[in-house]
Amino acid sequence: MTLHTDKIKQNRMYEEFAYLWPLISAPEGYAHEAGFWRNALRAKLGPGRHHILELGVGGGNNLSHLTNDFQATAVDLSEKMLAHSKKLNPGVELYVGDMRTVRLGWKFKAVLIHDAITYMLTEDNLRATFATAAAHLEPNGVFITAPDDFRETFRSPRVSHKTRSKEGIELTKVEYSHDPDPNDTTTETIYIYFIREQG
Ligand SMILES: C[S@@+](CC[C@H](N)C(=O)[O-])C[C@H]1O[C@@H](n2cnc3c(N)ncnc32)[C@H](O)[C@@H]1O
Repeated sequence: MTLHTDKIKQNRMYEEFAYLWPLISAPEGYAHEAGFWRNALRAKLGPGRHHILELGVGGGNNLSHLTNDFQATAVDLSEKMLAHSKKLNPGVELYVGDMRTVRLGWKFKAVLIHDAITYMLTEDNLRATFATAAAHLEPNGVFITAPDDFRETFRSPRVSHKTRSKEGIELTKVEYSHDPDPNDTTTETIYIYFIREQG
């Protein structure tokens, strides 16, 4: 099985530049979408503070809208991203791990993978990740995942930009997504950061 471990490990966005995450993404931006997740979980699992697992939790923005209703455990490859998650969701148990291989040793009522599924670049990677989800699910458990894009609706190129400031840092992020080969199953996103610190 070919796993793109090196490529994922070298992702500078979640390591070297992880300190900029709060300028890139804020919990408020996830409230609407998280409502769908909460409703789907409630409809499938019924009442109760069920125990759920999120793989690739990142800064925990989406999860922050679910923790009032559910007990949560979360996994991410990046310790620095987990530090953001811990600040936002202090009650969530966190583990460093790879969604393709991690085995926590116990099971949950639901496994969630939000936009982090977008980093699974091959069918082998996806299969390994779905096996992780299955290994952590109780019988009749619920698995929800949400890729950023679908082949049917993706338009290449897609360009966006935003500028945000916080605590003496101004970040302008330009995001360029395109599909170099429409016949394969991957797309590419290039991020350009303009970082201004202390002027
Ligand atoms: C866009 S962020 C997730 C943001 C999150 N949905 C939120 O609401 O804050 C993507 C995360 O996926 C993580 N990730 C990428 N590949 C991973 C893997 N193989 N296993 C675990 N986490 C992974 C990255 O470290 C990063 O923190």
